[in-house]
Amino acid sequence: MNTEQTIRTFVEFFEQRGHRRVVGSSLIPPPGDPVLFTTSGMHPLTPYLTGRPHPLGTRLVDVQRCLRTTDLDEVGDRIHLTVFEMLGSWSLGDYDGQQSVRWGFELLRDGFGLDTSRMHVTVFGGDSQVGPDTESLSTWRDLGLPVELTGDENWWSNGPTGPCGPDSEIFVWTGDTPPHGTPTTDDRWVEVWNHVQLRYDRQEDGTLRPLSQPSVDTGLGLERLLGVLQGKDSVYEVDVFEPWTSTVSPLWPLDEPSTRIVLDHLRSSIVVIGDGVRPSNTGRGYVLRRLVRRVLTTLWREDSGRTLCDLPTEPIRHTIDHFGLSIGVEPVRDVLLGEQERFRDLVRRGRRVVSRRLSRGPLGERDYQDLHETHGLPRDLVRTLLTP
Ligand code: SER
Repeated sequence: MNTEQTIRTFVEFFEQRGHRRVVGSSLIPPPGDPVLFTTSGMHPLTPYLTGRPHPLGTRLVDVQRCLRTTDLDEVGDRIHLTVFEMLGSWSLGDYDGQQSVRWGFELLRDGFGLDTSRMHVTVFGGDSQVGPDTESLSTWRDLGLPVELTGDENWWSNGPTGPCGPDSEIFVWTGDTPPHGTPTTDDRWVEVWNHVQLRYDRQEDGTLRPLSQPSVDTGLGLERLLGVLQGKDSVYEVDVFEPWTSTVSPLWPLDEPSTRIVLDHLRSSIVVIGDGVRPSNTGRGYVLRRLVRRVLTTLWREDSGRTLCDLPTEPIRHTIDHFGLSIGVEPVRDVLLGEQERFRDLVRRGRRVVSRRLSRGPLGERDYQDLHETHGLPRDLVRTLLTP
């Protein structure tokens, strides 16, 4: 199944069960939201998950682009991406969590044709405030799936306050040899779908207030699901990355984790730029700056002559079209090249400053501090690019 068929299968399954499709939001949350980027499918729906009626009713489905800065340092492995897409379904005070997991199971088995012997589930096992989720435990057991009980890992919240509750996470086996453990002990179990029962509203003082209208929020990671459906070892090998892997990987030959960082960060930068962010030293702009500079640091580590001027049009165009961004290829290129110029200047200036310091002996802690505070040269940059 390709990306388009996968999205259609998901959306139609829920539409056939009374859900209305919501248009996904941009990565930029509305003013007043304390979070820099949209981090999950439920994020733009938060007001409706705490009681406000949604104009499209009580059953919703959508595809939402997300960005989690907390995952930035994980990029380079098989499954993490900075910008990713989440297929989501919601019951706003309508059906319960048990109905949701039964439908989830049905869609994975019958809609996507996944072998149930490759599935494992984790369920909230309880903590000092809330008891174990015994209902989900018995529903999953009725469905015949192995279940592991955990603590915090199966408690979902989108921030320190707001709607939250116990969740069931569905993992799919991706190893070539049999598992030697459960999802928490063998990472070849890859989490694809999370079903959250939003039963509580966390208050400023940390207490949990039961929601008068409990809701269900689910999120299925599109690229991870595609990896499973297309039999690929990593999310970078699925069809939606093909315009990147076929053009950019041969252009700049690198080891596998570095290639993944370059592909992910460039693609994510384009989406962030398309959603209106420009590089800066604070907030969203700083996240964009970090993404672009990390690409450049990775490329220049082996060859300082590499340049984003060589980035082909095809993957930029594909990313713009795929995410429906209102920006052209050339304006995206201008932003990337502008940042490349600024960073090149910083590196040039940095080389002079660092070599003067090095002539007095090896760099110590105070040198690193001073290079950062006085000259704007972060330690990573000094270590990676500026010292022999
Ligand atoms: N909010 C949950 C998650 O992001 C399910 O959508 O995993």
